[in-house]
Amino acid sequence: MLNGASRNLRTNSLMSEYAVLLGDAVLRQRARIAEQSARAEAEHAERIKSEFISNMSHELRTPLNTVIGFSKIISEHRNHGLNGEQITEYATLIHDAAVNLLAVINDILDVSKIQTGTCILDKQEVDLQSVLDATVEAARNLGNARNINVEFRASGELPPVSGQANKLAQIFKGILSNAIKFTRPGGTVTVTAASEPDNTVAVTVRDTGVGMNAEELSVALRPFAQVDGSRSRWEEGTGLGLYIAKALTELHGGQLNIRSMKEVGTEVTVLLPSLRECVFAPGKSGGVVFSSNHSGMASSATSAER
Ligand SMILES: Nc1ncnc2c1ncn2[C@@H]1O[C@H](COP(=O)(O)OP(=O)(O)OP(=O)(O)O)[C@@H](O)[C@H]1O
Ligand SMILES: [Mg+2]
Repeated sequence: MLNGASRNLRTNSLMSEYAVLLGDAVLRQRARIAEQSARAEAEHAERIKSEFISNMSHELRTPLNTVIGFSKIISEHRNHGLNGEQITEYATLIHDAAVNLLAVINDILDVSKIQTGTCILDKQEVDLQSVLDATVEAARNLGNARNINVEFRASGELPPVSGQANKLAQIFKGILSNAIKFTRPGGTVTVTAASEPDNTVAVTVRDTGVGMNAEELSVALRPFAQVDGSRSRWEEGTGLGLYIAKALTELHGGQLNIRSMKEVGTEVTVLLPSLRECVFAPGKSGGVVFSSNHSGMASSATSAER
């Protein structure tokens, strides 16, 4: 009896000793895991930072070098024996490089305003149809130069929206430039615009480009992030266009949704609240069905309400 009690006592004390040891081991293991993940996070952040710096300096240096190089040649045109046509050509290159540089700087300033909440819209009634006509026309020229067919199908008359025309144009310009940039020659970019029954206007840009998987899609939506951030990426950019397009859409009270499939293409839909109630004719809408989700299709739905 007594023997049994002392055995129990010893067992209990061994158990509690074991529990303390186990507790210590668990705590040590947790600390090790936390340390490892903090190190991995720091390394990841460091890699993103260096990719960003190298990409950004490339985006700033390239146009600056064009400006410096060609302005020097023009200033020494007598030595180089340049004719009027060559001088005009070089001046155009300088002009285009400076415009690109300004666009990069403006994008950075836009992101800063968006992040500090100081991007304020001067809202007016905007004729969305004209905004789309102009941006699609510009995209068509870009597409022609790369042998990419840009189609525009508006179903019916589009109602006006409330917003700032140049910011709305910036949204579609960013999305269209991506669609063209990430589609190989011979591909197609299709823009559809339609009134939806819930008094929104849906503008969809679909491309037959390289597409993205779910992980790449979440990277694409982050500012300064590019799916392939290495210098060997096949297209240039600062990784700001999509982030700005999404933020500006939300500032207009809208939503930007993306569906994409690797090697199949990408579909970006901008939903904007329309200013006038539209009489919706069932079956006439060219809008997209968001509920369908084929396997392998990455999708992102972001809304101003969230
Ligand atoms: N239509 C698309 N098809 C495939 N990938 C895309 C598409 N749109 C965006 N992406 C991916 O998302 C990334 C981020 O896009 P975003 O427009 O923000 O930056 P960017 O086009 O690289 O540079 P920027 O727009 O600032 O010139 C792109 O680098 C690309 O990898
Ligand atoms: Mg872009």
